[in-house]
Amino acid sequence: MEIIIAGSPRKGMYSDRLAEAYAEATGGELIHARSLTAGPCRGCNWCKDKGNGSCVQKDDMAQVLEKARKADGIAFFSPIYWWQVTAQEKIVIDRLYPMTAEDWKGKKLTVVVNGAAEDDDREFALLKAQFQEMADYIGAELHFLGVGTTDDEAFSKAMNKLKDFISESN
Ligand SMILES: Cc1cc2nc3c(=O)[nH]c(=O)nc-3n(C[C@H](O)[C@H](O)[C@H](O)COP(=O)(O)O)c2cc1C
Repeated sequence: MEIIIAGSPRKGMYSDRLAEAYAEATGGELIHARSLTAGPCRGCNWCKDKGNGSCVQKDDMAQVLEKARKADGIAFFSPIYWWQVTAQEKIVIDRLYPMTAEDWKGKKLTVVVNGAAEDDDREFALLKAQFQEMADYIGAELHFLGVGTTDDEAFSKAMNKLKDFISESN
C-alpha cells in the first residue's frame, strides 16, 4: 500500500481533490501535511547517529515514518508555490531523512504537482528533474505528473490526466 502526502494548505481545493481521487483509485492512505504537528528538520543527524532511525523531535512524524517504512510507495501531492512544493509538503519530505537505503528499497515514488500555469509550462519539467534526482538517490522509480489548475475547466482536464496517469503507473 502507498501513503499519500497531501501538501496543500487549502482544504478541499484542487490539490486535495487530486490526492483524494488518487487515494480512492489506489486504496492508499491519505495524510494531510497541514494536519500534522511536525517541525522542520533540524539537520542534527541524530536519526543517523544516536537515534538509530528515529527523530529527535517527538511529534506526528514518528507515525508517518513508521507508515512510510512499511509502504510500497510514497506519493507526494502538492500545489506549486514559487516553483517548488509547499512548505508543509517540504517539511514531511525533509523529515523522511531518517529512512535508510534499506527502508527505501523497492519503493515507488509518485509526485503530482499542480499550479496556476499552463500544462506546458517549463516549471513542470523543472520539478520533474528535481524529483528525478531524489528518486535516483533513493533508488526509487519515479512517476511524475504536473498539471495546470488555473480554473475549474483546467481542473477537470487535470482530473482526466490523473485518471490516465493512475492507469499507466499502477
Ligand atoms: C505562495 C504561492 C506561490 C505560488 N507559486 C506558483 C508557481 O510558482 N507556479 C504556479 O504554477 N502556481 C503558483 N501558485 C498558484 C497555485 O499553485 C495554484 O493556485 C494551485 O491551483 C493551488 O492549489 P490548491 O487549489 O490545491 O491550493 C502559487 C500560489 C501561492 C499561494
